[in-house]
Amino acid sequence: MEQLNEAARDALADALTRYPKAQLAQELSITTKTLDSWLNKNIPSPGLVYHAVHGFLDSRKHIAGESEAPFRFIDLFAGIGGIRKGFEAHGGQCVFTSEWDKFSCQTYRENFKEDEHAIHGDIREITKDPETIREMIPDHDVLLAGFPCQPFSIAGVSKKNSLGRAHGFECKTQGTLFYELAKIIDEKQPTAFLLENVKNLRSHDKGRTYQTILDVLRNDLGYYVPEPRIIDGKHFVPQHRERLIIAGFRRQVAFDWNDLELPDLDSAPRLGSILQQESEIDKKYILTKNLWEYLQNYARKHKAKGNGFGFGKAGTDDVTRTLSARYYKDGSEILVKRGKTGKARPRRLTPRECARLMGFDDTFDIPVSDTQAYKQFGNSVVVPVIKEVARIMYPHIMTLKQEQELGEDQYAMVV
Ligand SMILES: C[S@@+](CC[C@H](N)C(=O)[O-])C[C@H]1O[C@@H](n2cnc3c(N)ncnc32)[C@H](O)[C@@H]1O
Repeated sequence: MEQLNEAARDALADALTRYPKAQLAQELSITTKTLDSWLNKNIPSPGLVYHAVHGFLDSRKHIAGESEAPFRFIDLFAGIGGIRKGFEAHGGQCVFTSEWDKFSCQTYRENFKEDEHAIHGDIREITKDPETIREMIPDHDVLLAGFPCQPFSIAGVSKKNSLGRAHGFECKTQGTLFYELAKIIDEKQPTAFLLENVKNLRSHDKGRTYQTILDVLRNDLGYYVPEPRIIDGKHFVPQHRERLIIAGFRRQVAFDWNDLELPDLDSAPRLGSILQQESEIDKKYILTKNLWEYLQNYARKHKAKGNGFGFGKAGTDDVTRTLSARYYKDGSEILVKRGKTGKARPRRLTPRECARLMGFDDTFDIPVSDTQAYKQFGNSVVVPVIKEVARIMYPHIMTLKQEQELGEDQYAMVV
């Protein structure tokens, strides 16, 4: 144990020769005081700290182009690559992409020009049999998927079960896109995965869909899946957007959702911080008189019935509602107040403002029409949320990866 403590302390000291203490502490999710005490005394989980420090140094080297990527991942149901961006921020390299929507592919290609691989279309073409999966999907450490949630029912499973037939994940989930990614996990055995979905996945079909998904991941595929976590994007961007994140690892690790560092909501960004200058905004984004009247009448009618408001008006100090893929229709969920009193006809967000609302920086190109851009950002993820999740998954991915590379016995001798 003392040997391992020493190795972890050396790694910390080495990292401190290259990075400021505050940055290293932040990367390790600890205070600088704790970092000081680790340098002088015992470290609670030295193995974990050792890998976390090396992981951090490796990812910085990779980002600086000085070394190979510390881990490889695949991007399924990729959309415009929001999840990918979160994992690339930690040095990961994308080795396979699947997305079938032609306009999303256009945006994806434009923004990930360095890719050496093509974008594959319908994932079911790849997962049709195990040989095709093996042939088409390269080995990777992490599988990423913001999979579309088509409802599925598990009716019939208990019947088959009572007949005494073995039922793997096939008969529970066949015909769903979750089934397609389960087949890939089964065949490729990645070190870890991250799956993202809407919060309501948990309550769909009285909770049965969610329980089936967890059951398949844990019991049929044998992964360690801590209770998934709902994260609200509003910690990082001025948008209330709750999403379910499922993280899984090939075996039990000390992954802990409590390591997430979610910025304080009191000081979280407000709408004003992502808006373009009013002078830059094309008049086409201002609601027409007709549409604005229609939305107000609609809201009045529903309010009278006790159904709440039909549209969401937001000012510079507000946090918006969730941007949806339907935003292109009337934009009613997020209308930006205009004029000194906020009483002028409101406007929609521009595509660039939508990008910012999802945490994409201004280097992200938007090569498609407004309609397509609204759909794409409304379907995507809040990038800094994924980046933060990737940060706390990272040391465990590296531990499991090294364990596999060395072989379990040899690994046990090293740590
Ligand atoms: C919820 S979106 C994921 C968005 C993504 N996380 C992002 O950051 O942009 C789901 C995506 O799955 C794609 N999709 C749905 N069915 C597919 C299939 N059978 N094969 C490949 N892609 C598919 C859709 O076109 C959509 O872009």
